[in-house]
Amino acid sequence: MESVWVFGYGSLIWRPGIAFRERRVARVGGWTRRFWQGSHDHRGLPHAPGRVVTLVPEPGASCEGVAYRVAADLAAATFEGLDHREKNGYQRHDVRLEFRRGGTDQGVAYVAPVNNPAFLGSAPVDEIVAQIGRSAGPSGTNLDYLYQLESALRRLRIEDAHVFELARRLRESEDQSRANRARAG
Ligand code: SIN
Repeated sequence: MESVWVFGYGSLIWRPGIAFRERRVARVGGWTRRFWQGSHDHRGLPHAPGRVVTLVPEPGASCEGVAYRVAADLAAATFEGLDHREKNGYQRHDVRLEFRRGGTDQGVAYVAPVNNPAFLGSAPVDEIVAQIGRSAGPSGTNLDYLYQLESALRRLRIEDAHVFELARRLRESEDQSRANRARAG
């Protein structure tokens, strides 16, 4: 068996938590990144889920993230660890990677499909903002997940209008709450 590429588009970008030989910015065609997956175990709780990203099929779209090349002898243990970390609805999915610096290869992404029990789907942006703003779980606040993702994408010069809009709206809402508290004394 040869080495295997693992594609990360969410927390795997800034906190891979796996041993890898190499990492490259890569794109997967036909998918878009959306805060449509419920998180009951990392950024929310069973009775109060947060929202994290999944890949949603969208013809003509593409999603940029980071691909990690994992050595063949570590692949089984790596997938075992990731299967546990991504257990709340995500499944391994074969994807075609297009590397930013050229070339293509096969990889594996963790995708939470629309029919998984934790899938939340689309919602008005105000609702998504409010849910991210109030949620927290064993891995930290949902806000931290969003801001970490935003800053990792900016560092890598990856554009994502959906993520950037949510981060902007959350910052505005935090500023507003601070101003309200200051006014209240
Ligand atoms: C990923 O990062 O690729 C999967 C979703 C997540 O764990 O945030």
